[in-house]
Amino acid sequence: MNLIQKAYCRFYQGCMRLALPFLPYREPTLIDGIAAVPKVLEKAGIQKVLLVTGPHIYASGLTAPLEAALAGAGIGCAVYNKTVSNPTDADVEAARALYLASKSQALIAFGGGSPMDCAKVVGARIARPDVPVAKMGGLLHIRKPLVPLIAVPTTAGTGSETTVAAVITDAKTHHKYAINDFVLIPPYAVLAPEVTFGLPPLLTATTGMDALTHAVEAYIGRSTTPETRAAATEAVRLIFENLPFACADGQNRLARANMLRASYLAGTAFTKSYVGYVHAIAHSLGGKYGVAHGMANAILLPTVLEAYGSAVWGSLAALARAAGLCEEDVSDEAAAAAFIAAVRRLNADWNIPAAFDVLKPADIPALARTAAHEANPLYPVPVLWDASQLEAVYRRVLKDA
Ligand SMILES: NC(=O)c1ccc[n+]([C@@H]2O[C@H](COP(=O)([O-])OP(=O)(O)OC[C@H]3O[C@@H](n4cnc5c(N)ncnc54)[C@H](O)[C@@H]3O)[C@@H](O)[C@H]2O)c1
Ligand SMILES: [Fe+2]
Repeated sequence: MNLIQKAYCRFYQGCMRLALPFLPYREPTLIDGIAAVPKVLEKAGIQKVLLVTGPHIYASGLTAPLEAALAGAGIGCAVYNKTVSNPTDADVEAARALYLASKSQALIAFGGGSPMDCAKVVGARIARPDVPVAKMGGLLHIRKPLVPLIAVPTTAGTGSETTVAAVITDAKTHHKYAINDFVLIPPYAVLAPEVTFGLPPLLTATTGMDALTHAVEAYIGRSTTPETRAAATEAVRLIFENLPFACADGQNRLARANMLRASYLAGTAFTKSYVGYVHAIAHSLGGKYGVAHGMANAILLPTVLEAYGSAVWGSLAALARAAGLCEEDVSDEAAAAAFIAAVRRLNADWNIPAAFDVLKPADIPALARTAAHEANPLYPVPVLWDASQLEAVYRRVLKDA
């Protein structure tokens, strides 16, 4: 990237950093368990909700206790159970039609990031029927309060229950983009470990790596605050301590609860301090090939951290020391290497590959342009790369590179 582009990116990021204390960030009110959800709705005078979930979650009966609790309280519940992974604008419109037809007054998002993001954008479209989903991408295109939304994460990964973001894929073009607006922060969330018990080991690992990526990208970026650094550090510590146990024994309540806490903390960190090129590249691959978000991040994280080089040694060393991944007295360079090695070990333990077999060399220039467009100038990354420099990173994660 040339000097003028670099100066522009850093200037833009500096302005965003200065604005940070004045922006209307908030955190959701945490509801104490699924059984307590009807009370919250009753208090708000809500008699009918739309439950947004995915086909697998619904078929496995995971939403049944919530539906029973709602029925017990006399609250009607329409269900949109077709949300796909990497949800599309078509999902949003189908769920919105059901919301309107069922005369719902609130939304409950029950699932991983996909149903949560779908529900958030349903809320956005209810608030702004005049703005199509495709026009909501970017920053602050909604600007109107949403109907009440309760987020129930069933993966410990995205942190969507506390973030300003929703990530949507265009059903026709496969372009995956983030919608960012303060009104998208759900007013309520339920962190219930039991709804994550059935998440299989590989999905537990890859969604956990998504949470780790949020914490790391927020921490190594240039727009941190003492609070986001503390949240990211605690998230990293919790993930290294608990992810192996949550993967090995899905019913381990403490490990599951700690992973939900870590994912939430990482969400609070990155929603203020942003993500970086791992996410920008992951989104391009999710949109183009449908690569699951957590899997994409898990593969990319160690490679991107290595590519950043000495610019991230200090921050990675701090994280490595906080998580007990190295001796206290080793150099920053050695501690950073220990951090990256620990990420690679976590990946290897769950057979997460080091490269993408779907990635085609001919697609790389367009993918890199998409990633550069997402990241620059918004993400306060430790090292700035333009599209041609990003191409080199894609080539490092090509199968048989
Ligand atoms: N809004 C944000 O701040 C934010 C942040 C990061 C990622 N995202 C987005 O979130 C999406 C990914 O979300 P995700 O990683 O949570 O995955 P997901 O919601 O797509 O779910 C992945 C798979 O896990 C299954 N699953 C989920 N919970 C389960 C459970 N408890 N038991 C059994 N199976 C379960 C689902 O059925 C699905 O097949 C992507 O679109 C990504 O871009 C959003
Ligand atoms: Fe993510």
